[in-house]
Amino acid sequence: MQVIHNQSLKEYNTFGIDVRAKKFIEVSTVEDLKKILRKTYSEELFILGGGSNMLLTQDIEKTVLRINIKGKEVLEEINDKVIIKAHAGENWHEFVLWTLKQNFGGLENLSLIPGNVGTSPIQNIGAYGVELKDVFISCEAINIQTLEIETFTLADCEFDYRNSIFKNQLKDQYIITSVNFELTTKNHQLKMDYGAIKTELQNISSPTIQDISKAIVNIRQNKLPNPAEIGNSGSFFKNPIITVDFFSELKKKYPEIHGYQLNDNEIKVPAGWLIDNAGLKGYRDGDAGIHKKQALVLVNYGTASGSDILKLSIKIRNIVKEKFGIDLETEVNII
Ligand code: EPU
Repeated sequence: MQVIHNQSLKEYNTFGIDVRAKKFIEVSTVEDLKKILRKTYSEELFILGGGSNMLLTQDIEKTVLRINIKGKEVLEEINDKVIIKAHAGENWHEFVLWTLKQNFGGLENLSLIPGNVGTSPIQNIGAYGVELKDVFISCEAINIQTLEIETFTLADCEFDYRNSIFKNQLKDQYIITSVNFELTTKNHQLKMDYGAIKTELQNISSPTIQDISKAIVNIRQNKLPNPAEIGNSGSFFKNPIITVDFFSELKKKYPEIHGYQLNDNEIKVPAGWLIDNAGLKGYRDGDAGIHKKQALVLVNYGTASGSDILKLSIKIRNIVKEKFGIDLETEVNII
């Protein structure tokens, strides 16, 4: 367990922002995590997973614990279901590929999402009609105060659209150490409702879960920038939820606007569409930009600082608010 002082975090956040951590410790076992938490009880902590959902706007004057606990295993197999445990430091996409290699179904629509397993419950990651909560059984997390490992069931986590209890009441109180998933071994439930998936798979008569994963990897690679090449954190904003009445009003003015009806009163509107139709897709201010192919993604073309990206995001919010009367909420955590 090595303590590094004044560590650059550039390699540890997918936006590639070069800020420094006052103290940086990489943790690879739960036992080490307990030891470190005992030693650092008087210090302010900053927990880092894959660094894929944060915008760092300043140096971190805290002790950064990078959770790198690896391991994945089959816990049990009953009929056509399997329970898998994956530790927090597993890279999400590598884990998804591992499940698919064994023909375990359920995670294929969540292929190529950046980040680690341990942070997936915090914002209930989701894509192409599937959210983490659909396959989640439970997670284990260490209570930073008591150092006890506690189990959180699906109900305990209070999952919602890009949200969970770990972002709210329990914020900064727990570190997730592992997640249990329930996947299928046969009779897989294929989710292909998204138009783009159907198009990708049009030449395959009976697609498999592996085909769906490949299709999603293609769709994402075509639309989303690869963080290894252009720094980004995926969707920067959440898709706003507005009332049906307000949506009808907007529709009169902008007939092409579309949304996804959530219930009798609410519609989720694509923030990407709003930003795009405010004329901002591809906009660039120095090295801070709005991705050319997907307006919901802000990018760092090289040397943008966190503040540059933040400034751009505020500009976007103001323009969208002025044009459509909608307040965009950030999905990425601003630090
Ligand atoms: N759109 C535009 N212009 C754009 C971007 C989007 O007009 O520049 C329109 C599209 O035409 C489409 C609609 O907006 O009709 C929705 O776009 P898309 O299907 O690409 O999905 P999204 O709403 O932009 C969400 C998630 C993504 C996830 C995709 C696919 C959020 C905030 N984002 O994006 O998640 O991959 O759906 O399910 O919910 C992430 O969270 O980082 C992320 C990438």
